[in-house]
Amino acid sequence: MNNSLYSKAANIIKNSKYLVAFTGAGISVESGIPPFRGENGIWNKYDPKIFDIDYYVSNPQAALELRNVFYDVIAKAKPNKAHIALAELEKMDILKAVITQNIDNLHFLAGNKEVVEFHGNTRYFICMKCGKKYDVARVEITEQPPICEECGGLLKPDFVFFGEPIPSEAYTKAFSYAKRSDVMLVIGTTGIVYPAAMIPTEAKSAGATIIEVNLEPSEYTTQGITDIFLQGKATEVMTNLLAEIKK
Ligand code: APR
Repeated sequence: MNNSLYSKAANIIKNSKYLVAFTGAGISVESGIPPFRGENGIWNKYDPKIFDIDYYVSNPQAALELRNVFYDVIAKAKPNKAHIALAELEKMDILKAVITQNIDNLHFLAGNKEVVEFHGNTRYFICMKCGKKYDVARVEITEQPPICEECGGLLKPDFVFFGEPIPSEAYTKAFSYAKRSDVMLVIGTTGIVYPAAMIPTEAKSAGATIIEVNLEPSEYTTQGITDIFLQGKATEVMTNLLAEIKK
């Protein structure tokens, strides 16, 4: 562990006025949820097309694939030390918000209150016709596509499929947090999926210092967006960083 880098990052965070975190799949890997890309990535096993909205509408039984890719794995996952460190930083009134690309609900379960779910969530299904929401526990994903009991419309998971827009409220909140931040903690993301990937760049252009936590360099590291790169597993780095901040 490079102590000087950690103490530099810790001091910047301690003196920050508006710390915002931006997280990707990498923060949840140590909770047992595979990332999308890289070793053990979901896209190595499943064709991303099952997450394309047009494909889902014409093949709703693809929901079966969704069942084990997301719901079963996510249902078992628990927040890890990296999620808990962010919850602690919010309790210390240092962290103002988490913007997450993840749909695993783990930031809420860790205790964070201000969480922007940029790609939606896996807590609900939503009717594509009338917009009625259903708790996921009430929706049977079987051979038959899930149908709305109100209007007969097709239900879909309440996360953003490829080809769908980002929920407007999440989009607006995320970019206003990015512009307002003076420090952004970017954890476990490749930084290649847009428009989410613009968020750290937006923060940087608004004058924020970017502290990145990742197992390996990302687009942000290679493009010079990152000011301090803390390389390693999110749980280890965040545990060490929190200890340094508390000193
Ligand atoms: N600790 C820290 N970082 C990790 C760890 C770990 N234990 N394990 C993996 N990583 C890093 C990888 O190095 C990589 O940079 O997490 C990142 C995972 O990248 P992706 O799987 O591409 O996840 P993400 O960047 O969140 O993907 C963005 O793509 O498919 C869409 O909607 C999906 O939200 C997702 C978006």
